[in-house]
Amino acid sequence: MSDEIGIRAATAADAEAIDSVIRAAFAGTDYGHQGEAGLVRMIEADGDTLVSLVAERDGVIIGHVLFSRMDVEADGAALSGAGLAPVSVAPGSQGQGIGDALIRAGLASLRDQGVAISFVLGHESYYPRFGYSPDFAARFASPFAGPHFMAMMLDSGAAWPLGGRADYAPAFGRMG
Ligand SMILES: CC(C)(COP(=O)(O)OP(=O)(O)OC[C@H]1O[C@@H](n2cnc3c(N)ncnc32)[C@H](O)[C@@H]1OP(=O)(O)O)[C@@H](O)C(=O)NCCC(=O)NCCS
Repeated sequence: MSDEIGIRAATAADAEAIDSVIRAAFAGTDYGHQGEAGLVRMIEADGDTLVSLVAERDGVIIGHVLFSRMDVEADGAALSGAGLAPVSVAPGSQGQGIGDALIRAGLASLRDQGVAISFVLGHESYYPRFGYSPDFAARFASPFAGPHFMAMMLDSGAAWPLGGRADYAPAFGRMG
């Protein structure tokens, strides 16, 4: 990643710029809708944001990542969980390690907060490099279960729970 790019916590003043980055990033994908920008606002309004980071180049926001609170039960006990979604890098800035840096910074922040487990729904070629595993996520019942559903223990030395349930924040159920 080039030196002039900085990563910092998002503030309320960044909302419009974050919307723009998300819309631009997802416009070129197969997802077919622009719901992710609204999702970020709903999660924030619900108080379910755990980590929201922006990447800036020369004062312009070119990337964003959000981790939201999840309701996770593992081996019969509640576990502090965070869902990674969405992550967005402006089309002209993709492939330069910015998404990588945002995700790694977000995971570090979750560890600082004592969050135990993280889930993501995404490309199986991208997220395993951060530690996410589809085999691990398959142990959890979820409406999103499937080959793109991945999970990781944030303490890489922690034992993997044998099974449980993982529910995303309520805003995900209200996506259009
Ligand atoms: C996915 C995204 C956040 C990655 O950010 P980035 O800064 O471009 O990625 P990085 O430079 O850190 O990493 C590049 C790697 O990601 C891979 N990658 C990028 N977009 C990808 C995609 N849509 N599917 C699979 N892999 C992807 C590249 O192939 C590259 O892999 P390599 O390191 O093995 O060569 C960004 O491309 C993006 O905003 N895409 C559109 C929105 C999106 O799809 N978000 C994720 C939804 S699951």
